[in-house]
Amino acid sequence: PPIDTIINAQDFEDIAERTTTKKTWAFYSSASTDCITRDKNKEYFGRIWFRPRLLRSVGKVSTRSTMLGHDIGLPVFVSPSAMAKMIHPDGEKGIARGCVEDRVPQCVSTNASFPIEEIIPSVPKEAKHPFFFQLYVNKDRAQSEKLLRHVRSLGIDTVFVTIDGPVQGKREADERVKADESLSTPMSGQKAKNDRRGGGIGRIMGNYIDPNFTWNEFAWLRTHWHGKIVVKGVQCWQDAKRCADEGMDGVLLSNHGGRNLDNAPPVIMTLLECQMNCPEIFSQIEVFVDGGVRRGGDVLKCLCLGATAVGFGRPFLYALNYGEEGVQHFIDIIKQELEIAMALIGITDLRQCDASYVNTAELDPL
Ligand code: FNR
Repeated sequence: PPIDTIINAQDFEDIAERTTTKKTWAFYSSASTDCITRDKNKEYFGRIWFRPRLLRSVGKVSTRSTMLGHDIGLPVFVSPSAMAKMIHPDGEKGIARGCVEDRVPQCVSTNASFPIEEIIPSVPKEAKHPFFFQLYVNKDRAQSEKLLRHVRSLGIDTVFVTIDGPVQGKREADERVKADESLSTPMSGQKAKNDRRGGGIGRIMGNYIDPNFTWNEFAWLRTHWHGKIVVKGVQCWQDAKRCADEGMDGVLLSNHGGRNLDNAPPVIMTLLECQMNCPEIFSQIEVFVDGGVRRGGDVLKCLCLGATAVGFGRPFLYALNYGEEGVQHFIDIIKQELEIAMALIGITDLRQCDASYVNTAELDPL
């Protein structure tokens, strides 16, 4: 269908389901076992209600903000996801190009389909576009050290360390469809293959990730990385607080879009849990959220509950079906939805967001 008939994230998803290969759909859309967390991530946003304040002159609304020291056009970023090339030959480069105009930061996965040195130059240098790098810690530490040096040499100042997949979830839809064995991820040096358990790409290509990585080893990381650190995949307030206590720069509350631990809590509950139990962390470090965010209004709810910015995973991949134009169109949609929701709750600037604009009674007590 023509791109101008697409008016929300769900449209992109429906079209992706109909038009991509079986394997691409299985890998992108799948989540672990019964997919409860994947689906509840999204559904639980519907249990937070706005508390609009009216008659406030909202003719001019700005979605500008900052994230980890970068100016951004809206409080949204591209969550790192593996192998964008499966849906479009431009892969992560297309995502980057689609993000430039609105200054939407892109976090590039260790499992990206292009090496990062090819992704960064796909946008004009003058744009100073914010890129981050997502690290999966390799069992072979020397490999991670090399990658970190490389990433730093390219000017990246922040690494997101993903901790929610010491082992990979059992993603049944992905296991059921055979993997194309020509697929590879250059930065982690993995190749797809099929085995007796199935063709699950995440499982097979995530084999290098160290399941024995612990809190203690952030000391190792800090000797090899002098930039900012965000811990991705935190799912309870105690771990979020520990991130703040250990002097991380940020924490990304995330359950990997339900792809690892099924029945992990919907991410908005984790955010609320942090608000209730360790509200001080919101002024100590930047708190991010991803998983099931599909509307500008969802973004606004997260910001009212203390998040600095919100990540989208699958929606960017589905938008990339239309190349960079699709990505840009998707960002436009989210930006418009956010502007409308801001005006309708009675704010014109994101700094005005606070918990008084949401009613969380349906999700309390935790
Ligand atoms: C991911 N995600 C992910 N996360 C990460 O840290 N490294 C990675 O390589 C990947 N790869 C990946 C591939 C695919 C196909 C998906 C869908 C997701 C998780 C991602 O960063 C994010 O946490 C979720 O996608 C957020 O949920 P939504 O927005 O997809 O619902």
